[in-house]
Amino acid sequence: MNYPLTVGIMSYRNRSGLAPFSESGYFRQLIRSARYLGLRAFVFCPLDIDWVGRKIYGYSFSPEKGSWHAKYYAFPDVVYDRLFPGGSISGMLFGAAKRLRKQRSIVFFGRALRGKWEVYRSAYKYPDLKPHIPDTMPLTGTTVLGSMIKKHSFIFIKPDAGSQGKGVVQIHALRDGYKCRGRDNLNRPFSTNVQTLTGVLNLVRNVSHRRRLLVQQGLYLNHFRGSTFDIRTIVQKNEQGQWEVTGTAARVGRRGSITSNLHGGGSALRTEALLKQQFPDRYQEILEKINWLGVSIPTALDKELGRFGEFGLDLGVDKNGHVWLIEANSKPGRTVFLRIRAYDLRRTSVLRPMQYSKFLALQRKNRGETSNA
Ligand SMILES: Nc1ncnc2c1ncn2[C@@H]1O[C@H](COP(=O)(O)OP(=O)(O)O)[C@@H](O)[C@H]1O
Ligand SMILES: [Mg+2]
Repeated sequence: MNYPLTVGIMSYRNRSGLAPFSESGYFRQLIRSARYLGLRAFVFCPLDIDWVGRKIYGYSFSPEKGSWHAKYYAFPDVVYDRLFPGGSISGMLFGAAKRLRKQRSIVFFGRALRGKWEVYRSAYKYPDLKPHIPDTMPLTGTTVLGSMIKKHSFIFIKPDAGSQGKGVVQIHALRDGYKCRGRDNLNRPFSTNVQTLTGVLNLVRNVSHRRRLLVQQGLYLNHFRGSTFDIRTIVQKNEQGQWEVTGTAARVGRRGSITSNLHGGGSALRTEALLKQQFPDRYQEILEKINWLGVSIPTALDKELGRFGEFGLDLGVDKNGHVWLIEANSKPGRTVFLRIRAYDLRRTSVLRPMQYSKFLALQRKNRGETSNA
């Protein structure tokens, strides 16, 4: 029988709001892209799976009616995981998602990363990537903290599984004590001097609510008009299942802020224009490095950590023009393209996950047909 290739977009259903899912706008665009590619797509929450009937109560958007409608779907060929960790019933949600992942008939891609440590550790294994990964250790106590400060004299401490720059603290060794600047768990900036390593440890554990922490060499990042910036690089698999940089944008932090996260009040700019201004003689070379890392890092993470379809890489450019991996996100947002008015990039970034879904579904179908022959 000739049934349409189907992709399930896995998310968390919000029971209270009008829109059925937290990323409704994005999902609507995904469904439109899927249609354009001849795929069938629906959004579902893992709690709406009927295990006995092997079907899922899923949602699709009808552009004709301009509304969402729900019905039962057979298990899809491919699942695009857009489930974010956290939230009150996440244990149940993740349990159900895990059970679905065990279904051998479904190809999954895009799981959540456990944290930054998993990423750095995986990338360290590759000698050509290593010079671009900041020296990082899990913060287990004052011994590690002391040796990292001694080695680098300027360090960053941040939650392994943090986001939005919350709980990120910068520490400079002074002649007597340590200067600590950062953002607390509510993203409020603070600055204070501390006398001892134990004092530093207490401070960072306090602002991050005792989450697992990493200690990392501080990077002397280049500044644009007095603000730190990083290059958000969206890398996605294309219709041939190959990594390709979709586009980049520079995120410039608020003046004086130690982080460049947009949540901290930053702005976005076009990468080339910014780099041209900062490094007139070398910007071409830096752009090439960004593109090379943009493909090499996801290739490594894919090999080490499972099947992914996209990453948002935060790349830092230091004062010497050297490019560093600051963070990798396996569930990137795409709004940065709207902020720089790159509507073509935004469109491609929405199309890619569905192109890759189609690639996976076809691959699976062809394999199935061969083995049945
Ligand atoms: N080692 C570092 N050296 C210099 N700046 C850093 C370093 N680590 C993080 N930053 C700054 O802090 C921001 C937030 O750090 P990041 O690791 O991305 O954490 P989060 O997950 O909270 O976004 C980065 O975008 C960058 O501007
Ligand atoms: Mg970040």
